[in-house]
Amino acid sequence: MKVLGILGSPRKGGNSELLLDKVLSGARSKGYDTEKLALGELKFSPCTECGGCDETGVCVIEDDLQPVYQKLDQARAVIIASPIFFGSLPAQVKAMIDRYQCRWVRKFVLGKQGRPFPQEGYLILVSGANRDKFFKNAESIVKNFFAVLNIKFKGYLYCPGIDEKGKVLEHPDYLNKAYELGKKIIARR
Ligand SMILES: Cc1cc2nc3c(=O)[nH]c(=O)nc-3n(C[C@H](O)[C@H](O)[C@H](O)COP(=O)(O)O)c2cc1C
Repeated sequence: MKVLGILGSPRKGGNSELLLDKVLSGARSKGYDTEKLALGELKFSPCTECGGCDETGVCVIEDDLQPVYQKLDQARAVIIASPIFFGSLPAQVKAMIDRYQCRWVRKFVLGKQGRPFPQEGYLILVSGANRDKFFKNAESIVKNFFAVLNIKFKGYLYCPGIDEKGKVLEHPDYLNKAYELGKKIIARR
């Protein structure tokens, strides 16, 4: 059973990654296989509105996002871990989400079913400031994304006041919550 962690931060070893690693290690402690995908390491285009998915619901852009579609389809749970950038999600995360327009087409235009098993989604956010509306803004985008993919939004951890690289290591409360969140993933096997 696969738990997929998607790292939205371009900063390797940054706060989102440290939190994501904790979530994934909590999931592993419960016997799940985990995989981490760092969007910052992938080379992919944003959606170009080319219409290539109009008839099939399949994205025609051949780049590093193609394996992501497969991995996400096969995962039982997905965790997006990301910083807040300008009150929202970083471009890397938004670009990935926009590339799922093909799945919107598949679902709402072509009327095709998704995968035959349920999926759960979780969101981890960090930000330098403490502005609830930034978290809510990012959350609404991710909830929309999960809804299109029929992924149930099951939990979140929002960590304000975390700015410098590695700062979250000074906050064992956040790290513990991330680990506990990982342990709670997937009630339904
Ligand atoms: C381009 C950019 C934009 C940012 N915008 C915000 C912002 O709008 N609000 C905020 O609280 N923090 C903002 N930050 C701070 C990051 O959210 C913060 O440093 C976070 O800990 C980075 O997480 P990471 O180490 O996982 O990349 C921004 C940082 C960058 C680099």
